[in-house]
Amino acid sequence: MKHVRKAVFPVAGLGTRFLPATKAMPKEMLPVVDKPLIQYAVEEAIEAGITELIFVTGRNKRAIEDHFDRVPELEADLEAKHKTKLLDIVRNVIPSNVNCIYTRQSNPLGLGHAVLCAEPIVGDEPFAVLLADDLIDAPVSVTRQLIETTERHNGSALAIENVARDQTGKYGIISGSLVDAATTRLDAIIEKPAPDEAPSTLAVVGRYVLEPQIFEHLRRTRVGVGGEIQLTDGIASLMAVRPVFGYQYQGIRYDCGSKTGFFHATVEFGRKYHGLRI
Ligand code: G1P
Repeated sequence: MKHVRKAVFPVAGLGTRFLPATKAMPKEMLPVVDKPLIQYAVEEAIEAGITELIFVTGRNKRAIEDHFDRVPELEADLEAKHKTKLLDIVRNVIPSNVNCIYTRQSNPLGLGHAVLCAEPIVGDEPFAVLLADDLIDAPVSVTRQLIETTERHNGSALAIENVARDQTGKYGIISGSLVDAATTRLDAIIEKPAPDEAPSTLAVVGRYVLEPQIFEHLRRTRVGVGGEIQLTDGIASLMAVRPVFGYQYQGIRYDCGSKTGFFHATVEFGRKYHGLRI
């Protein structure tokens, strides 16, 4: 398998659960303590050796482009005031060997469609997909854990975790057979099944490393659950011709697409990384 150099960040979602905060601001810019969600995801990708960051954006997302751009006047001001620590933080949001590329999903037709929008930029190589809503605190970047899975097993890899049965309707749910202690080779994947229809309680979280063949399958994928073109359905079709693995990653995930998860992440990251106490 070719080296994974590219990561796709679908950031065109509306973020209605955080209205009115997300009325004019992308949900991916909501900060956990002092860093926007999207920056945590970008740092995870960079830690895994990714050098091309592809953002699939939509309306109201210009703040993301600005965030990853240089701000000469702010840098000059911090430099003049000898605020070197802050200057470093502002300058090092993106290391100099990493490129940001933006493309637009003009119609919010679903996650599968968003990934397909990145095809002209990804081309014929394996790539990662990171959903910034899922903030994962991990000893080793989860994207790296998945890249290592694809190298060990030769195929695509999805991050999975066990969830309570009454939660299956929120996730893509997989089933399959174990190939090693943490890795399952998929034989089925279903988007948001009801608890009594779920083939297991192994849920896909927002991290994927996919072979480029996924694009052919996404092109053929019809509208699915919620009237959207689902990445899950594209993966179900890919699975028929190429192996796909679920990897039970090491780390703690916070579902920052929900207020509870976001609040939990803020408290835990504040305590653990900033020494904050209430
Ligand atoms: C998306 C995927 C779903 C996956 C989830 C992980 O759903 O469609 O398969 O389990 O992300 O966070 P969403 O949360 O965007 O509805």
